[in-house]
Amino acid sequence: MIYLDYNATTPIDKKVAEAMEAYIYGNFGNPSSSHELGSKTKQAVEEARKKVASLLNASPEEIIFTSGGSESNNMVIKGAAYTYQNRGKHIITSEIEHPAVISPCEFLEKNGYEVTYLPVDQNGVVDIDQLKAAVTEETILITIMHANNETGTIQPLAEIAEIASENDILFHTDAAQSVGKIETDVKKLGVDFFSVAAHKVYAPKGIGALYIKDGIEIEPLIHGAGHEMGKRAGTENVIFDAALGKACELAEDLLQGV
Ligand SMILES: Cc1ncc(COP(=O)(O)O)c(C=O)c1O
Repeated sequence: MIYLDYNATTPIDKKVAEAMEAYIYGNFGNPSSSHELGSKTKQAVEEARKKVASLLNASPEEIIFTSGGSESNNMVIKGAAYTYQNRGKHIITSEIEHPAVISPCEFLEKNGYEVTYLPVDQNGVVDIDQLKAAVTEETILITIMHANNETGTIQPLAEIAEIASENDILFHTDAAQSVGKIETDVKKLGVDFFSVAAHKVYAPKGIGALYIKDGIEIEPLIHGAGHEMGKRAGTENVIFDAALGKACELAEDLLQGV
């Protein structure tokens, strides 16, 4: 069989598997434990966070680990809607988003929010003038994907970011399909939130990350203890965090031609 469906998922890279091994067979400590086993896994999680941050040109403090692209998208869309509900209840997205964006938007529509689904042109690109026309006083979030999972079309994120910033609107992108394939510099793109899905970049399924720009607060999706800087509760998935860190390191090397 010749497998060409890497937008659906990728196999785990051998080097990624090796990075996981140390925490499968050896060090099993809880990163929250204050003894040596804990500090070793804590260090592994923080090293992985740095590698994800480096690929996105972010600070490690701006990266949280999640269970994947779906969770990252849900956290931003529902979290921003909840946190900024007193400022407005309008969200702008596009008709070509993945269900992991469309579905939380539809959930919000059932709960008193208004969502505009922008159409795309014959090349699959969102029309900037239509986006400008859709902005209202009530708009709190724009969520437009980076690369489309069916067509590969890249959306003009930097232009969208300008409109968001001029109107004091938060801007999220679902980058599940772009990470590791093209440059993903969150500063150049001008985004406030950026979702990563690990299994599209040679790491396992069930792990992802979310970039939250420094200074922006949104309500967590998962409440509990203070993991992930208080933004996402749950004992860290050390094995998969290490995997995503390694995958991001490999992707960065590849993109830089190392
Ligand atoms: C564009 C896009 N967003 C989100 C997801 C969901 O990511 P995950 O499977 O990690 O939840 C996918 C995966 O199919 C995707 O292609």
